[in-house]
Amino acid sequence: MTTSVRSHPVYAAVYDRYNRGAERTWLGEARALALSHARGQVLEIGAGTGMNLLRYRDVEKVVATEPDPAYRRRLRRRVPEAQVPVEVVDAPAERLPFPDASFDTVVSTLTLCSVDDPARSAAELRRVLRPDGALLLVEHVQTDAGGFVRAAQHASVPFWRLFVGGCRTNRPTLRTLAGAGFEVKELDRFNPPHVPFVMFPFVVAVASPTEGKAG
Ligand SMILES: C[S@@+](CC[C@H](N)C(=O)[O-])C[C@H]1O[C@@H](n2cnc3c(N)ncnc32)[C@H](O)[C@@H]1O
Repeated sequence: MTTSVRSHPVYAAVYDRYNRGAERTWLGEARALALSHARGQVLEIGAGTGMNLLRYRDVEKVVATEPDPAYRRRLRRRVPEAQVPVEVVDAPAERLPFPDASFDTVVSTLTLCSVDDPARSAAELRRVLRPDGALLLVEHVQTDAGGFVRAAQHASVPFWRLFVGGCRTNRPTLRTLAGAGFEVKELDRFNPPHVPFVMFPFVVAVASPTEGKAG
């Protein structure tokens, strides 16, 4: 199992500026839509520079995990601005240092594209989420259409991963989550403006653990 995460200090340093336009338009809206379902004890994985922190309301506490020290420094700086209690924890999604069924809500925004082991991460999200809990997502995923777009998603991975902070353009994240025992209850797919087509589609989703043991 891979659990040591490569640091991306340059990408972390430019992240907020790079995304500023998107945050003002579609990305901020997508975050707000997903986070409107957050409640109780919240776990956010790969919280980055903390772009979600200011958006949490009416939750008991947010545990914001971030394994990359370059992001984590920026994340900690945002904590005092949050409206809810926030604890920052150094942990990869593949190995979460929390007991089973300890969170009401798990949040991943633009993180499952970057983890090293998506299946292991999905299994960990399933493990720490309560049976009646919700997984909230804003992610870009592999296209359902085959052909040129999917081929371009696969082909762009080595370049993209290098220059876009470890992000992979070809992750079938919803299928990975289904394999880990999640059922998508609400799903909004969209192709945002001014975004390279290899990242299409984006999804805002709410998923629940399926009954019984994780798949
Ligand atoms: C594109 S950034 C997204 C940051 C933040 N979630 C957001 O919405 O702005 C990808 C994030 O995934 C984190 N990441 C990379 N590998 C990870 C892993 N194995 N486990 C958890 N987070 C990871 C990175 O450190 C980074 O913070």
